[in-house]
Amino acid sequence: MSPNLTSATLQRARGANLSTFAQAQQAAKYILARTRQRPRIAVVLGSGLGAFADSLANPAVIDYRNIPHFPVSTAIGHAGRLVIGTLQGVPVAAMQGRVHFYEGYSLAQVIFPMRVLAQLGIRTTILTNAAGGICTDYHQGCLVLLRDHINLQGSNPLIGPNDERFGVRFPDMTTVHWAPYRAFAREEARHLGLDVFEGVYAALTGPSYETPAEIRYLRGIGADLVGMSTVPEIIAAAHMGIRVLGISCVTNMAAGILDQPITAEEVLETGERVQGQFSALLNAVIPRISADLTSPTQSAPEPPQTASAQVSPKANGPAKKPKRRGR
Ligand code: HPA
Repeated sequence: MSPNLTSATLQRARGANLSTFAQAQQAAKYILARTRQRPRIAVVLGSGLGAFADSLANPAVIDYRNIPHFPVSTAIGHAGRLVIGTLQGVPVAAMQGRVHFYEGYSLAQVIFPMRVLAQLGIRTTILTNAAGGICTDYHQGCLVLLRDHINLQGSNPLIGPNDERFGVRFPDMTTVHWAPYRAFAREEARHLGLDVFEGVYAALTGPSYETPAEIRYLRGIGADLVGMSTVPEIIAAAHMGIRVLGISCVTNMAAGILDQPITAEEVLETGERVQGQFSALLNAVIPRISADLTSPTQSAPEPPQTASAQVSPKANGPAKKPKRRGR
């Protein structure tokens, strides 16, 4: 054996013929052997937001490059470490950085870490990102809780044969942005005196930022925020029955809103500037989610409003007018 081959490289070579499920199991086994914590909550930390992981107690720090089959981030502001530790006694898995479609990874690779988190036993994930603000109520540095998303990456990470061990062929997306956890975040933000909004996140591939015309189009179709990540992970989470709380940091107003260009430096600087607020919010919300996960009466979202959920008037008398959700 060549002495230059790391165990992860070897695993990668051996894993070429394994199913994604088996690869995720191998990766999870590697991680579980390095910590006694068994987290149920994961946090994915986006551009400039990685410092939260440094506040976890008794951390096991694992470089992505050492985890079998794990994709390694090439983006600046993404450290590429998994930190498993505790926050006020609650075990948490924090990913410092993620991989993106624009880096050249396939969407299957982009969601592989979510597959691994599910194998670790994660039931809820807090997905964070840096985003451009389209809604003009927002301002640079504000935090936005994701109420919904629009996938404009031109593909879907679940395309291809479906492995039922992960989830069903056609997963429902109506409640993946778990409303009760958004309510926790709103309440805790109010206690902390933080300026927190709600909005709809549109994911494009990047890596170029949008044009002003594209931003006008995105506003027209109902987007409040724009970014280059997170949506593939949300789709994978929905596939596996994992609840999502999405939080964007508006690192800049989107193209054409202010009379100035957008730079990657500005995006990172703003993320780093709001780290304190952002960590305070996570510190307050995670214990509440943990209590909910262990409660015998777990939070349930409002029932989804689907066409097929409407009762046929013929069979059951007059149908109740379905409740409309406001924006
Ligand atoms: N557009 C896309 N992605 C982003 C932006 C933006 O304006 N800001 C941070 N990530």
